[in-house]
Amino acid sequence: MSVLIKNGKIVSSEKIFSGDILVSEGKIVKIANNIAIPDNCEFIDAEGQYIFPGGIDPHVHMHLPTFAGYSSDNFYTGSKAALYGGTTTLIDFVTPRKGQSLPDALAERKKEAENCLTDYTFHVSPISWHKGLKDEIKECVNQGVTSFKVYTAYKKSIGLDDNELFKVMQDIAEIGALLTVHAELGDDIEDLRNRFFEEGKISPKYHALSRPPETEYKAVKKIIEFAKKTNCKVYFVHISTGKSAEIIQNAQIRDLQIFAETCPQYLMINDEKLIGKFYNTVKFVFSPPPRKEQDNEKLWNALFENVILTVGTDHCPFTFEQKLLGKNDFRKIPNGAGGVEHRMSLLYTYGVFQNKISLNDFVKITSTNAAKIFGLYPQKGEIAVGSDADLIIWNEKNDVISAKTNHQNCDLNIYEGIKISGKPEIVIKAGKIVLSENKLSQKISSGRYLSRTL
Ligand code: URP
Ligand code: ZN
Ligand code: ZN
Repeated sequence: MSVLIKNGKIVSSEKIFSGDILVSEGKIVKIANNIAIPDNCEFIDAEGQYIFPGGIDPHVHMHLPTFAGYSSDNFYTGSKAALYGGTTTLIDFVTPRKGQSLPDALAERKKEAENCLTDYTFHVSPISWHKGLKDEIKECVNQGVTSFKVYTAYKKSIGLDDNELFKVMQDIAEIGALLTVHAELGDDIEDLRNRFFEEGKISPKYHALSRPPETEYKAVKKIIEFAKKTNCKVYFVHISTGKSAEIIQNAQIRDLQIFAETCPQYLMINDEKLIGKFYNTVKFVFSPPPRKEQDNEKLWNALFENVILTVGTDHCPFTFEQKLLGKNDFRKIPNGAGGVEHRMSLLYTYGVFQNKISLNDFVKITSTNAAKIFGLYPQKGEIAVGSDADLIIWNEKNDVISAKTNHQNCDLNIYEGIKISGKPEIVIKAGKIVLSENKLSQKISSGRYLSRTL
């Protein structure tokens, strides 16, 4: 079965033009004016509506095991929410257990993701350096993984110390893969957390106060120095401060291969949300924490200036019941919040509508840049003949975000009450209409594991 979309305003990463798109066997097969309707073809009249490539969220944590249980979305529920928001590809993570090899952990994670409705791939996380790690990384590359994620926070469980980090970066650089990194100074944070708790400072706002801006930007600085020495390509996930963006920009000027991502929460939310009662503030406990309004503005500007190239969500929701574990100790609140459904709507409403980013930048930030950085381009990230037929027909209707109406599996929503002026009217995934009239089709086939190459 083919699908013909007529008269849309097609927005690619470089151009905006009117035309028709013919889709067949999961691929875009023709883009032209006045394409005749073939036999046995579904027809969509998109007169006057924007058509974007399906979104790629490069940072989600579905079914993430934590001390508070799994993050509340599994691959099925989380990918449903993603489709409602126009995201057709997800990049999640593989975190091995202590002693487990990276390829074994990858095989296990692939099984967990089998019911994912979007296409998907993974960043694989070395949680220690050991002899033989390089071979494990090579094996993952053979299995289609080209990006490897490390944490400099969470040292007690999955974080690396400087010595290990340096060696991991050497290995990754030699293989020619990409390091993705959660940059926070884990030891400094741990000291502050414990000090606050011992002083009886137990409420959610101490989560943010124990992770001050310098714990991010000093980590960013250090990793850039390591990148210089090892020649390792680096992608910083969830950059939250203006100062980090400035440091990254300086490194990019020096011709280092440094990429950066921010998230809607660092563009839209500031630390005032942590003032108040536990009940109202606990949902804003995520890492890095919300910063100042000036940081929000600086990050918008870094997007505008192409210093930050992508917006991922770090989708990692926990229910109120899970968050309640930290009622008397902020250190026990599971870190994370959902957002996979809202990423594109928020960027459209608060980015494009407010003239902070252009329509082409919107496409780059939500899709093309991630495809290019993570080895998915031109299969993903573009409206072009030969690319996968993952397409969104956009609608500029107004709506208000709420946990009551969102599709993630969570009773909390950090964007509660925020107005949006745009969301998908029709989503096409692998050439099939999977969402229309705000309803998902009953018969969506599972997404595919995307094998990437260096
Ligand atoms: O608070 C967050 N971000 N939780 C998910 C794990 C991470 O650090 O990305
Ligand atoms: Zn992180
Ligand atoms: Zn994350």
